Amino acid sequence: MNPISLSPGPPPARLAERSLLGIEELSREQIQSLLDRSIYLKSRRAQQDPQLVSELAGKTIVNLFFEASTRTRTSFEIAAKRLGAHTVSIQEQGSSLSKGESLVDTLNTLAAMQPDAIVMRHAASGAPHFLSRFLARPIINAGDGRHEHPTQALLDAMTILERKKTLEGLKVAIIGDIAHSRVARSNIHLLTKFGSFVTLCGPATMVSGSLRSLGPNITLTYDMKEAVQDADVVMMLRVQLERQAKPIFPKNEYFQYYGLEIEHLQLAKPEALVMHPGPINRGRELSNEVADSKSSVILNQVENGLSVRMAVLERACVAEAAA
Ligand code: CP
Repeated sequence: MNPISLSPGPPPARLAERSLLGIEELSREQIQSLLDRSIYLKSRRAQQDPQLVSELAGKTIVNLFFEASTRTRTSFEIAAKRLGAHTVSIQEQGSSLSKGESLVDTLNTLAAMQPDAIVMRHAASGAPHFLSRFLARPIINAGDGRHEHPTQALLDAMTILERKKTLEGLKVAIIGDIAHSRVARSNIHLLTKFGSFVTLCGPATMVSGSLRSLGPNITLTYDMKEAVQDADVVMMLRVQLERQAKPIFPKNEYFQYYGLEIEHLQLAKPEALVMHPGPINRGRELSNEVADSKSSVILNQVENGLSVRMAVLERACVAEAAA
């Protein structure tokens, strides 16, 4: 195996453009381009365009998931296959990481096999950013610790746009365990770049004042009713026990104060959307009635994840396609 460079330096510009590390570093135009492409690919899929399956024919995508996932992993895999790419899925258990190989060595080993893109989920914030400095392959961040989950924010924006036609001026309430949420961070970056007003709500142990620095038009509240009042979109978050060294809010009281019930929706705007990145915990973050209500677009989010990941893979493998 070739030795790893000791002075990584910045990645080549074209490669940096083909990777997707976070929403923070994308311009509004780059985000818009990905959203436009996702919407276009969704329409081609709906029309059963036979050309779609040859878009990435001959390309190979490696999916590295070092944390649990149902939606993201499956939809990256299906997205790649719908475009005609080959996929290889690797999890920590069963890989040579469990024999003590470092993450950099593992990634360099995989890169030596010349995949066209590497999709990675990792528990450490910044892991894909760090690895992108060493690898001459596009890396797509499928969620890094509590830092970013860029494809989730893109699919959320697509879902809102399909129904509200714009993000500008919308009140979006993001409620729950903000402190540990990469979904919240990516959404805050995206929504504020597009002129939404973002209200962050949760227990004081899950919402910190420093979140205001992530963008303009961010309001913090610990009061659920205040957050939901006049909201166009209510985005609920999962309580991420796996990132809490010890529970930071009493489990049995969480739903009483921060669970979304049907009565809350009467405070929101008519036609308000209820979103959740999943996996949902019914009876903790939202009631069954809300989860299954006509306001809920949770499964539409999942569906749009496919088109977004197709657009992101296409951008990684065929740079000029999404330009
Ligand atoms: N929303 C999301 O990332 O879900 P998974 O953990 O199931 O991929």
